[in-house]
Amino acid sequence: MKKITALITLICLMFALTACGGAGPETSFESTKGSDIDYMALVNKLNPLPEGWEKNLKTTTVKNSRGDEVEAEVKAVAAFEALKQDLEENDGVYIELDSARRSVKEQQAIMDDFTKEYGADYAKKTVAEPGYSEHHTGLALDLYLRIDGKDVYLNEEMVQHPEIWEKIHAKIADYGFILRYLEDKEHITGYGYEPWHIRYIDDPAKAKEITSKGITLEEFVAGKEAPEVDIDYGYSKIFTKDELKEAAVQIKCSFASWKGCELHSMKYAGDENNNKENLEWLNDLNEGQDEKYVDCVKFTTNFHSPVDEADLKETAWEPDKEYKDYEWWLARTADGGWDLVSWGYN
Ligand code: DAL
Ligand code: ZN
Repeated sequence: MKKITALITLICLMFALTACGGAGPETSFESTKGSDIDYMALVNKLNPLPEGWEKNLKTTTVKNSRGDEVEAEVKAVAAFEALKQDLEENDGVYIELDSARRSVKEQQAIMDDFTKEYGADYAKKTVAEPGYSEHHTGLALDLYLRIDGKDVYLNEEMVQHPEIWEKIHAKIADYGFILRYLEDKEHITGYGYEPWHIRYIDDPAKAKEITSKGITLEEFVAGKEAPEVDIDYGYSKIFTKDELKEAAVQIKCSFASWKGCELHSMKYAGDENNNKENLEWLNDLNEGQDEKYVDCVKFTTNFHSPVDEADLKETAWEPDKEYKDYEWWLARTADGGWDLVSWGYN
């Protein structure tokens, strides 16, 4: 009898210990055996997927509400499942996986589609060059929403729900994810704001640190925060602030492709630049395209050129120099987004 009681006590104790050790939301995803990869790896416009990555990557697939099998790294999937359950049970928010691990070929197909649909400039600030996409790692997840039982997956529709994204973003770090493409950090990441693109880094403590500091993975890995870019949108009777912001994002995204180049400030140069003469000049530069530009804007920037001559590449800049009032010209067709058409001193 004593033996049985002792055995029962032991079983109860073991159960309690297991349950206790596994308390909190982390258990299910943290106990998954992962891949032999660097979960903090930085893949961006300047850093391609590390060599040999694929042979150490362990993936699995998840079926989404649209019936697609989406492939991602095993631990990222476990963390996603735990996050999804938490959001459903506690916030009434429903997330699904749209796209995660992509091959170079799949990335090329997306780039081609976006370029055809939205133009090359929009595509460049939205889609990574094949070989340089974080999606190749299997650690980047693009989410979509289910609202009132309906799938909401188009980018332009998803951005209409900031209150839902806020609830999602408030929880991702608990599961080892960070938001990768932050608003106002385009000059560092090279991409516009993407509320749906989360990145698994396998470390909730680091994810919480990055999130609470409001920094990018680039800044965290470099160990220093980039200075804020001061943007003066001035006053316009022609363009709304959102339209000017969209134009400014194109310039900021370009800066992230120039290694060692630091953007300091930008200024909208005024409505008087949107004139016939400038439009003719920009249309001449883009000879051969079907549709004519109907609007143009000029921004001026202050920036510092790369210290290292090797980083100047095809630019005409001198190394290690502070450039002031450097001009950037963007133009758009009647139904198009902004194209960055010319830059330099006039
Ligand atoms: N949308 C992100 C930048 C990618 O294509 O990897
Ligand atoms: Zn993505």
